[in-house]
Amino acid sequence: MLQFINVSKRYANGHEALNNVSLNISRGELIFLSGHSGAGKSTLLKLIPILERPTQGDIILDGANIVRMKKYYIPLLRRNIGMVFQDHHLLFDRPVINNVMLPLEISGMDRKECRKRAQAALDKVGLLNKQNCDPITLSTGEQQRVGIARAVVNRPPILLADEPTGNLDPKLSQEIMNLLSQFNSVGVTAIIATHDIRLARKMHRRMVVLHQGKLLEADIADTGHG
Ligand SMILES: Nc1ncnc2c1ncn2[C@@H]1O[C@H](COP(=O)(O)OP(=O)(O)OP(=O)(O)O)[C@@H](O)[C@H]1O
Ligand SMILES: [Mg+2]
Repeated sequence: MLQFINVSKRYANGHEALNNVSLNISRGELIFLSGHSGAGKSTLLKLIPILERPTQGDIILDGANIVRMKKYYIPLLRRNIGMVFQDHHLLFDRPVINNVMLPLEISGMDRKECRKRAQAALDKVGLLNKQNCDPITLSTGEQQRVGIARAVVNRPPILLADEPTGNLDPKLSQEIMNLLSQFNSVGVTAIIATHDIRLARKMHRRMVVLHQGKLLEADIADTGHG
């Protein structure tokens, strides 16, 4: 469904963040992207919603080469992609529910319907009771879950998560991973960038490792059988 073919990314300052990366991700897969700080994980994720463009190579999404995609179509593409950021990017000037409603409002949906769907998404992450709170009053883990609710509220087929457990303790990290894996189990294709190799292995999914912009051999998930 999503194919990176010989993709390289050189930033304007000359730094090559990705070097000839080829990767195939199937529909409905949950895949972990690991590697050292600066390895290129975030860069790789950013290419998918065209937050950045590659300098070389092709990225085929559902049969279309998004590298050639016209600017005009980018908002449409982004509607199909939910994004969870490490620092969640919540807006602190409005309550939780309005943060989650935002992607739906942008797409022009009726306000009442937006609210209903946002509440359903908050319910899924266990935070319906916090819908009217200011995000600043939530714990880090709760804020991260609001970020996840916002990413999935318009039911995108693809979910990208960049260090979704970056600031969380092991127990909360596990909860967030379980939550992402629940969305995956209902058909969402999920790509999760994380430093936390131990946690990723525990999830028994495919893991690929970036090293200085190069994709290393796919790491086999720990099956728990030795
Ligand atoms: N906008 C930019 N301009 C120039 N260089 C950049 C830019 N963004 C990232 N880089 C560089 O590209 C390399 C890869 O960065 P990237 O953010 O993709 O790494 P990462 O694997 O996500 O790291 P981390 O684990 O610290 O989040 C780094 O060396 C970084 O300094
Ligand atoms: Mg990063």
